[in-house]
Parts: sequence; C-alpha cells; structure tokens
Amino acid sequence: TSAFPIFSQEEVTSHRSLEDGVWVTYKGGVYDITEFVAMHPGGDKILLAAGGALEPFWALYAVHNQEHVLEMLSEYKVGEL
Ligand code: HEM
Repeated sequence: TSAFPIFSQEEVTSHRSLEDGVWVTYKGGVYDITEFVAMHPGGDKILLAAGGALEPFWALYAVHNQEHVLEMLSEYKVGEL
C-alpha cells in the first residue's frame, strides 16, 4: 500500500496557479511543483501543465526523458490519483 494520499482529478485541477499552488500529475502520481516553477530551466512554459498531466508536454519536450529529471520530480510528490 502507498504512503501517499489519494487525490481526485478535480482536486488536482483546482491547483493551477502560483496563488493556489501548482499541481501536476505524472503516471498516476500527484506533484506539488509550486516551489519548483521559479527554478525550472524551461521557464514559465511549465505552467502550461498546471492542474493537469505532464505526459503530453514531456512527449513534445524530450529533454525531460532523463533519470535526473524524474528524480527531481519525485521530490515534489504529494499523492496519487
Ligand atoms: C528543461 C524539469 C515541465 C519545458 C527542463 C530541465 C529540467 C526540467 C530539469 C533541464 C533538463 C536538462 O537540460 O537536462 C521539469 C519538471 C517539470 C517540467 C520537473 C514538471 C514538474 C515542463 C513543461 C514544459 C517544459 C510542462 C513545457 C510545456 C521545458 C523546456 C526545457 C525544459 C522547453 C528546455 C529549456 C532549455 O534548455 O532551454 N525541464 N520540466 N517543462 N523544460 Fe521542463
């Protein structure tokens, strides 16, 4: 069993601004990346995924298909869908 709480898609979708928090999903995981937005090497583009799935964006920007990027993402995990 997982140590993480389960969130609905609706709950994730309600977090799509720096004010309300920026959450994204990736492969069933939920991530609060609010603090990471300002550190993102790709700048504000990251906000396009706010409240939704990373997969379609990372399919376009293959630079994310690296172990070190996934390790970075894992630090922001807050739950699961
Ligand atoms: C680059 C992380 C979401 C667009 C990068 C890099 C990291 C990163 C670590 C540098 C990779 C390297 O050079 O080795 C993340 C994380 C994300 C995220 C953790 C989500 C939590 C997004 C989204 C987009 C995006 C949603 C587009 C809509 C880009 C672009 C670059 C980049 C364009 C290349 C920047 C450059 O080298 O000029 N990202 N990213 N990223 N990211 Fe993201």
